[in-house]
Amino acid sequence: MLLRSYARAGTLVAKRWCKPCQVRHSTATALHFYQNRQLELYASKDAKRLTLRQLVSLSNSLIPAPFSNMSPVGLLWAGHGRGPSDQGTEPASHADSCSFRLCQAANYVRTELAIRIAHRLRDLQTLPYVVVTQEGVARVYELYWSAFEEFRRFPQINTLADNDVFCQSLNRLLHEHATVIPNLTLGLSLSSPHIAPEVLDSFMRRMLTSRISRRVLVEHHIALSNSFRHQSQERSDSEQPVGIIYTGLNVTQSIQKCVMLLKESSRSDTLWPEVIISGHLDTKFSYIREHIEYIVFELIKNAMWATVVKYRGSPLPPIQATIVAGEDDVGIRISDQGGGLTTPHIKSPSDLFSFSHIRNASRMDNSRLGTLRTVSSDPRGVMATVDEQLSSRAVDQREPVPQCSEGPEDGIELGIHPRMGIGLPMSNIYATYFGGSLELISLDGWGTDVYLRLPKLGTQLEGIEV
Ligand code: COI
Repeated sequence: MLLRSYARAGTLVAKRWCKPCQVRHSTATALHFYQNRQLELYASKDAKRLTLRQLVSLSNSLIPAPFSNMSPVGLLWAGHGRGPSDQGTEPASHADSCSFRLCQAANYVRTELAIRIAHRLRDLQTLPYVVVTQEGVARVYELYWSAFEEFRRFPQINTLADNDVFCQSLNRLLHEHATVIPNLTLGLSLSSPHIAPEVLDSFMRRMLTSRISRRVLVEHHIALSNSFRHQSQERSDSEQPVGIIYTGLNVTQSIQKCVMLLKESSRSDTLWPEVIISGHLDTKFSYIREHIEYIVFELIKNAMWATVVKYRGSPLPPIQATIVAGEDDVGIRISDQGGGLTTPHIKSPSDLFSFSHIRNASRMDNSRLGTLRTVSSDPRGVMATVDEQLSSRAVDQREPVPQCSEGPEDGIELGIHPRMGIGLPMSNIYATYFGGSLELISLDGWGTDVYLRLPKLGTQLEGIEV
């Protein structure tokens, strides 16, 4: 059974008929069978999910952070049985203790990543054959197998030098996996005629949530290790991140940054609608800036695009971005007068979150599949953060493409992202990752209101599907 499921993923190549077993084996069968047993072992363990606060408190225990406004909640692996108690007694001196904790964090990431990837490999193995054989899916499967093997075999990290080697591997893996999303989107879009929309969407949701979770752990650990190395120069104000978390993230500034990037990246002589920011303008909270900016960038991009298309040639009504700091969460509403979302192809705004062509016909557009094919083998800038885009202006080297992820092609070139159609589904997954939400409300014939809500206390666990 295990053997078959592994073979189904297209990994066994040279096969010979085996009399005793009455199946075709390859010379590599024994090895694969052993590897699959390892996979089962890891896949049977639960992921140890974290909250934003736990990620911050880990940093505080490594590097004193006087600015932090969060109360420590103990080491992130406390009680998980994969931490200090497994690895000897904590050293007495402060410096030694910090290195010890950094190594513990590294070992947590090492083990946790093997478990989280194992869950997704099992998910891939249960896909129907017709999906597994689609372009892109086998590539992701192979990347995950090799990363799983690497984490599983990586020796325990006991010293800062071991951690440096580990961080080098993490950096390489981050880069190698840059094309995972376009590859998966391509494969699953092509599979869409063969698989029920709810099955396809829940599979994609698990894959993407888990990927965000792995990248959060890895990027946070790399950032902490870097801070640890340069401790003496660090941390004079709350603008500095703790790992990858900004404890005083200024929401107005993030919105302004996204608007600026969108306007500056334009190559056409298109006039842009003004974005008016109102509400609680001084709102600050703890969050991963990359996540909020990814979402806001996508939402404003769509609002601008819809407005420009609808009012071509006439004065453009402004886009309103309203910020509200509630007791438990931060809300952002983005309202445009771009005509609304529903079209003959899109019956409900939430269909825009779907990867199935049955709910969102544009999934099978040739132009979209073409972009996915290009980007699947060339990751340059695919998922670049707003910061990276601002600093590199990588966009200038790319082909001009119609930019809005969800709208019809109509020749307007905004020149930011290749049009892969993943902006809104990804924004939805980012928004819900730590328990927030994203809601699209279309007033057809007039415009769209988008409600983004992000929890501000940092006490919600990562998505269940990591
Ligand atoms: C991913 O990007 O899919 C990853 O799993 C990255 C991780 C292996 C560093």
